[in-house]
Amino acid sequence: MRIGFYQFSPIFGDKQANHDKIAKLFNVNTDLIVLPELCNTGYLFKSRTELKNLAENIPNGETTRLLMQIARKKNLAIVAGLAEKYKGILYNSSVFVTPSGKVHTYRKAHLFCDEKFYFTRGNTKFQAYKYKNSKIGMLICFDYIFPEACRSLVLHGAEIVCQPANLILPYAERVTISRAIENRVFIVLANRIGFEKRGKKHIQFIGRSQIVTPTGEVIAKASYDEEEIKIVNIYHKLAINKNVTKYNNILKDRRVDLYFK
Ligand code: ACM
Repeated sequence: MRIGFYQFSPIFGDKQANHDKIAKLFNVNTDLIVLPELCNTGYLFKSRTELKNLAENIPNGETTRLLMQIARKKNLAIVAGLAEKYKGILYNSSVFVTPSGKVHTYRKAHLFCDEKFYFTRGNTKFQAYKYKNSKIGMLICFDYIFPEACRSLVLHGAEIVCQPANLILPYAERVTISRAIENRVFIVLANRIGFEKRGKKHIQFIGRSQIVTPTGEVIAKASYDEEEIKIVNIYHKLAINKNVTKYNNILKDRRVDLYFK
């Protein structure tokens, strides 16, 4: 299976510019590609009103419709982070769009810092979705620091975890290597690049998108500040083997009877 990420810098509030970036996928050949978090809007909102004016319905909004068009035409699946508006509620969401026209939505469960002022916490369950003889799960950015999130996807059978991100903290991408190893799962971390300044707030995003194998090898890695598309071939069924040694299975050996509930 061919999987990849597209690292770029969304332009705040400029949907047309962001759609032009996304349309580059019309020239890409892969089975699955992951785009950054909030790739239709940018990140640093000044108010809920501003976010409300930019957020979109899923699946009827213009960004999801563009993703569906690309997925159908190119016969590929896309995971992309979007600002979602659902019945007036605003979510930091991710869509998984398949070539046959299915759209699955995950709403970010663990909001980071000021996101808490603008977005509502996600209410979708951590799920895995069938695609091409594999199973795909979604996380968004800061979810990386809650091991339960990735573990839940893997307990649902996810073999490839797709993680749109707007990473900021310097250790963020290293954490995803641990998540991959402890779950024996592939992780595609698609981060954004660039500097965003809005009023008094500013953020430098750190790029370094990566694809990690179930044993923690980084098989694709992007730079800190360049727009990049990287695609690799993987044998996704490697993620089915949950044995660390012949006597240790990461799922069966869990001591849920001893864990804090
Ligand atoms: C983040 O969750 N965007 C850091």
